[in-house]
Amino acid sequence: MTAQDFETGRVATLRGIVRKLCAEHDDRLPFHGWHHIAFVSSKGVEFARRNGSDTEIVAAAALVHDLNYLVRKNSEPSAGESLRAHHLRHSGFTDAEIDRIEAVITESHTASRTCEISPEGAALSDADTLFKAVPITPVVLSHRYLAENDISLGQLARKIVDEQAPLVEEGIYFYDPDARDRYLPWATANLDLWKSLLDSLDDPDVKELLRSVNVR
Ligand SMILES: [Fe+2]
Repeated sequence: MTAQDFETGRVATLRGIVRKLCAEHDDRLPFHGWHHIAFVSSKGVEFARRNGSDTEIVAAAALVHDLNYLVRKNSEPSAGESLRAHHLRHSGFTDAEIDRIEAVITESHTASRTCEISPEGAALSDADTLFKAVPITPVVLSHRYLAENDISLGQLARKIVDEQAPLVEEGIYFYDPDARDRYLPWATANLDLWKSLLDSLDDPDVKELLRSVNVR
């Protein structure tokens, strides 16, 4: 089953709702907008198919996993729980399925995920993590994260290094072995970039350079 297999039914309904929400609030979601959701949904279903998990649950979780950014900027996933439940229920998911989807989103959260994770959580996590590790993200999307969440470049670098470096050390940056083989070099290159960026911020001339181009 692929993302294209959900052309009808509950996932298709939910996709239409989330896509419309993203379009309506495009100015508030320069980083976590439809481009991010579409990528994570597509890769999430691919990883779910590979690890034998419930593709419909992963597809639904991927579609709603970042709705918290519509509720409050720079927020945790829990801030979006009510909004997620509302749209999932409207799309035809049962209360038990909504609870399951919420659990998958919670266990796949980058800041708190561990080696104890369900196949569905692993599929969502790998898809969301891959978006962070794709080499184009720091080049063409990072400034959008700063704008969306109103944080400084140093704060973003610190967040990335603090949250993601331990995951590499624990061997759970990616859960899927093939994803690990294919994408871990991108992840480590990305982390090295952010570590170097943090290091560079100790240089007063680099700080002045940032100030002169109006970057916090
Ligand atoms: Fe995400």
